[in-house]
Amino acid sequence: MTPAAELPAAAGTDTMGWPELEAAIRACEACGLCRTRRQAVPGTGSRTARVLVVGEAPGAEEDQRGEPFVGRAGELLDQMLLAVGLDRRRVYIANVLKCRPPENRNPTPDEVAACSPFLQRQIALLQPTVILALGSFAARALLGGEGKVGALRGGSHVYAGIPVVVSYHPAYLLRSPQDKLRAWEDLCHLQDRLAETTAAAEAAVALQPKIGAADR
Ligand code: URA
Repeated sequence: MTPAAELPAAAGTDTMGWPELEAAIRACEACGLCRTRRQAVPGTGSRTARVLVVGEAPGAEEDQRGEPFVGRAGELLDQMLLAVGLDRRRVYIANVLKCRPPENRNPTPDEVAACSPFLQRQIALLQPTVILALGSFAARALLGGEGKVGALRGGSHVYAGIPVVVSYHPAYLLRSPQDKLRAWEDLCHLQDRLAETTAAAEAAVALQPKIGAADR
């Protein structure tokens, strides 16, 4: 295995703005997936979104259209988001890997390591209130370790101070609909995290004039 440090790095991402970052993702040749992809899939949605959805990697349709989650799993993701009042245009959606692994095989550790600076920079630019990690690859890329979704979901996790809600990948839910109820619970958990931060921000704003008055 080639250590990630020896791969032609996705260098300099930590100072990039959105346009440079997207261009770097599209031009990236840091791993072998650049030879089999039709195109890279940087991410989509609002750059002021409070929610970042992180999936695993583009599939065949995403590779063709250049957008994440546009196949069957994407349709289910849209329904899941709508169920808690979130439209896909109001969140930001990205994957751990920006290029499709051939035959939709699992990402390798080298590929995840080579691609991670892109997701890290997307998170730094977006500064979301909550991250929704879909599936074990997304959860592990953000949280480290080898945990499975069943063990991680429902727990309190953070990435760089940002709460991370772990749930099932929609492609898994298409195969295992008996877990949709659990996914619904996870989305309610996400809604709670959003409501908490909204309440905290409103309380801070409400307190502001009082603090000011006490100083006078
Ligand atoms: N699965 C993912 O994890 N991401 C996509 O973009 C599509 C399917």
